[in-house]
Amino acid sequence: MNNKKPIGVFDSGVGGLTVLEKLVEMYPSENFIYVADQGYCPYGTKTKEEIEQRVLTIGKYLLNRGVKAIVIACNTASLFKQSLQNITDTPVISVIEPTALRAIELTKSKKVAVLATNATIQNGKYQKILEENGVEVYPVPASSFVEIIESNEMDSNYALKTVTEKLLPLKSAGVDTLIHGCTHFGLLEFQMKKVLDDVTYVECGYPTSFLLGNVLQLTIDYTSKGYIEIYTTGKKEDFEAKIKWFTIPHQPIQEL
Ligand code: DGL
Repeated sequence: MNNKKPIGVFDSGVGGLTVLEKLVEMYPSENFIYVADQGYCPYGTKTKEEIEQRVLTIGKYLLNRGVKAIVIACNTASLFKQSLQNITDTPVISVIEPTALRAIELTKSKKVAVLATNATIQNGKYQKILEENGVEVYPVPASSFVEIIESNEMDSNYALKTVTEKLLPLKSAGVDTLIHGCTHFGLLEFQMKKVLDDVTYVECGYPTSFLLGNVLQLTIDYTSKGYIEIYTTGKKEDFEAKIKWFTIPHQPIQEL
């Protein structure tokens, strides 16, 4: 199945672009439609009902655009993957399972930290998959990181202080692997490494890209370039200002 229909990708904001980067790197000839649901960001401190509602709303928009698959480039939204999959035969991909499985492959100490939004930690899906595979889990709810990243303050002293408070207790725990269980968090990894530099950081982008490739049987084609459309449910100027680090060529950002 390798047609020219686009692949839909969404997140509450900028974090999912870290997944889109990997998808485009691996499948440059594919077309992508990315939605940042900034009008409703953050997801991680909302109720289950509110998050599910947003997943269905954005998912339906992408389905109406004729996508051949939807990658939920957000861990918090991925908790509601099944609600979206229930209304369509189009494959819906969650970031949680492939990322958890990658961490299980990598850990030697069998002690893995999961940093994620409050909603993702409360749900316990990561903990369940890891524990079923004999891994001891150190869950860290860190919705405060999302605010730092969405306000583009990753370089600030406040960012380092917040990251230090959350990560320092892990230092003595024997954790050798840390999951970015929120697609925003890779953007703070340079600060995290100042506190914990001897762990392997696992992000969602590559494991999810491999899974998508398997599901759609994508062939890797470097001879042509697809298009990338980006939409926000917030203000486009605001979004543009936040994603200076995203250097992959794309069409002008539009408001949904
Ligand atoms: N990027 C999202 C995730 O992976 C969450 C950010 C938010 O709280 O909206 O969970």
